[in-house]
Amino acid sequence: MRQVRTLGLLGTGVIGGGWAARALHFGVDVLAADVKPEMEAWIRGAVANAEGALSRLTFAPLPPKGKLSFTTDLEQMARSVDFIQENIPEQLELKQRILAQVSRQAPRDVVIASSTSGLMPTDLQRDMRFPERLLVAHPFNPVYLLPLVELVGGKATSTEAIEAARRFYTYIGMHALNVRREVPGHLTDRLQEALWREILHLVNDGVATTGELDDSIVYGPGLRWAGMGTNLIYHLAGGETGMRHMLRQFGPCLKWPWTRLEAPELTEQLIERMVEGTQQQAGGRSIRELERLRDDYLVAIQQVLRQFNLGAGATLRGLEERLYEASAAAARGTLAAAGAGEGAAAPLRLIETVVRPEWVDYNGHMTDSRYLQVFGDATDALLRYAGVDDAYRRSGRALYTVETHVTHQAEARALEPIYVLSRVLEVDDKRVQLFHTLHRGRDGVQMAAAEQLYLHVTTTAGKASAMDGGVRSRLAALAAAQARLPLPPEAGRLAGKAAR
Ligand SMILES: NC(=O)c1ccc[n+]([C@@H]2O[C@H](COP(=O)([O-])OP(=O)(O)OC[C@H]3O[C@@H](n4cnc5c(N)ncnc54)[C@H](O)[C@@H]3O)[C@@H](O)[C@H]2O)c1
Repeated sequence: MRQVRTLGLLGTGVIGGGWAARALHFGVDVLAADVKPEMEAWIRGAVANAEGALSRLTFAPLPPKGKLSFTTDLEQMARSVDFIQENIPEQLELKQRILAQVSRQAPRDVVIASSTSGLMPTDLQRDMRFPERLLVAHPFNPVYLLPLVELVGGKATSTEAIEAARRFYTYIGMHALNVRREVPGHLTDRLQEALWREILHLVNDGVATTGELDDSIVYGPGLRWAGMGTNLIYHLAGGETGMRHMLRQFGPCLKWPWTRLEAPELTEQLIERMVEGTQQQAGGRSIRELERLRDDYLVAIQQVLRQFNLGAGATLRGLEERLYEASAAAARGTLAAAGAGEGAAAPLRLIETVVRPEWVDYNGHMTDSRYLQVFGDATDALLRYAGVDDAYRRSGRALYTVETHVTHQAEARALEPIYVLSRVLEVDDKRVQLFHTLHRGRDGVQMAAAEQLYLHVTTTAGKASAMDGGVRSRLAALAAAQARLPLPPEAGRLAGKAAR
C-alpha cells in the first residue's frame, strides 16, 4: 500500500472537517470532496477553528502544514490521492453506492476507510472493486483532538490494508484499536449507546434531569475513565483480590438487573425533557463557545496524562517521539557531513520553523520560554545525531542542562519563519557546551543567542558520569570541525564554566 502524502476525503461535514484538520496539522495534504460546493467554505472554516487547540497539543517540531484543496468531483479525487477516508451520511445504500463508484477510480493500492459509526465493513465492501482495501476506521468527535480510531475489517479485508491504515493513523497521532470481529456499533458506540439508553430511561421515568445525570459522570467515573477503563477501575475496587472479589460482590445485582435492555419510546415529552435539560446546562453559551471549552480541556487532559504515560497521554508521547526523531533525521545528513570535516566552516542549520501564534505574548513578540524551547529543539536534534536518543535515555543515561545563557537581540512576531544555527564549542568526558543562534527567516537577522552547558548523568544514581565513547567522539568531531570558526561574541558567559 502507498505512503500517504495526500489524503482524500469523501464527505466534508463534521467528521470530514475533523480528519482534514488533523491530517493537515501533521503535514499531510488533503483533497476534500463533497457533493455540495458550499462545503468548501465550511471545511476551511472548520480547519481554521480546530487550529487553535491543535496547535497547543504538542510543542514538538512539526513538519510544514499540508495543503487543503476542494472538489465536487468525487472520481477525480479518487484518482489523485493515496488514501481515502469516507465520511458521508450514515445510510448503508448511499455508502455502498458511493464506495463502489469511487473504488472503480482509485488505484488498487489506495486504502479506502469508512468513518461509519456502526455499519459493518462486509456490507460496505459488497459492490466495490478490490474490496480487500476497504476497512472501517471509526474516529471520535473532535477527530483532531481525540486519538482513538477503531479499525474493523470485513470478510474481504486484507491484513495488509489494516496494517497500512494503522501506520497512517499512528503517523497522524492516533491510537488505532483493532476490533477483532465486526459487530454493529463496533466497541465504543456499543458502550456509549448502553449508557445513553439508561440516561433516556432515567429522564423518561422522571428520576433525574440531564444535568444531574451528567454530574453523576463528570464528578466521578468520568475522571477515572480518562486514565483507566471500567475493567481496570473495577479491578482496583475489589481490594486485594481485585476483579474476582468484585464479581462475587456485585455479580448478583447483574441478575436483577439494575439496567434496561431496550431504549424507551422517543415520545415528544421525552424529547422535550432532553432538549430543555441540555439547553439549561448550556446556560446561554453557544455551541461554538462550548466546543472551544471542550477542546481546551481535552488538550490539557492529554498533556497531564502524558506525564503518566497513560492512555491518550502515551499516544501523545509516541507522537512527539516520532516528531523529534523526524526533525533530527532531517538534520542528520548535515551533521554527518560536518562531523566528517566537510563544509565545516559553517554552523549547522538544524531547526526551521515559524513562530506559532500562541507563542506570542501581550507585546506581540515571541515570549521568553519559547526561545528556550526552540533552542532546546536544536539541542535535541544535535544530541540525537550524536546518539543520545530514546534508547540511550532508557538505558539510564542522559544529558542534563546545567546552565543556559540567552541574549535577546531582536523581536520575533507571530507566523514569522525562523531558523536556528548550532555549534559544539567544547566537549569532555562529562560535559558538552553548545552554542545556538536564532535567526529571522526573511532576512537572516540574528534575534537571539544561547550558550548552554550540559552534564552527562546516570539517571538512576542521579550522579554525573562519563558519556558513551561513541557519543563523545561524534560531538568531538563536530567541535573540531567547527573550531576554526571565530568564537561568537555572546559566548563565554557561563558562570559554571568560569568557575571551573
Ligand atoms: N458526528 C459524529 O460524532 C461521528 C463520529 C464518528 C463517526 N461518524 C460517522 O461519520 C460519517 C459522517 O458523519 P458527519 O457527522 O460528519 O455527517 P455530516 O452530515 O456532518 O456530513 C456528511 C457530509 O457528506 C456530504 N455528502 C452527502 N452525500 C454525499 C455524496 N454522495 N458524496 C460526497 N459527499 C456527500 C454532505 O454534503 C455532508 O457535507 C457518518 O458515517 C457517521 O456515522 C460521525
